[in-house]
Amino acid sequence: MVKILVIHGPNLDKLGQREIDVYGKVTLAEIDSALKKLGGELGVQVDAFQSAGEGEIVEKIGSAAGDYAAIVMNPAAYTHYSVAIRDAVAASHIPVVEVHLSNIYAREEFRHKSMIAPVAVGQISGFGINSYLLGLRAVVALLNKKAA
Ligand code: DQA
Repeated sequence: MVKILVIHGPNLDKLGQREIDVYGKVTLAEIDSALKKLGGELGVQVDAFQSAGEGEIVEKIGSAAGDYAAIVMNPAAYTHYSVAIRDAVAASHIPVVEVHLSNIYAREEFRHKSMIAPVAVGQISGFGINSYLLGLRAVVALLNKKAA
């Protein structure tokens, strides 16, 4: 079965308690179970990984290609400054979709810049949990198109 890797960056494990006015009450466990359920409907297996560590995320991206067909990633704060994660995405041989719960362009100026977007296949920002679900749909559609 085609496998999709979901990567959540720092502080996303605090969803549900963290800045509820910005991110809402949804928890990471709820996001992961919604992604796995949608994956089932789309015929793919979804594995989720969360880390606060830049190096761990770089390593996860670096080792994903053999196992996974694509990545859906919310790099969280690393979005805005991690050259290492950007380089890992650029070097990975699989498509990476960047997702954000909040609309990063409607927030503080430092969030307007994404280091990842230029090397991602696309970005979805501002739809809460639906950013992840739309990201999964988009990447599965891309894989299906490639396979056709
Ligand atoms: C975020 C937006 C980032 O700016 C922030 O650092 C996060 C979450 C989002 O999902 O909206 O941690 O990636």
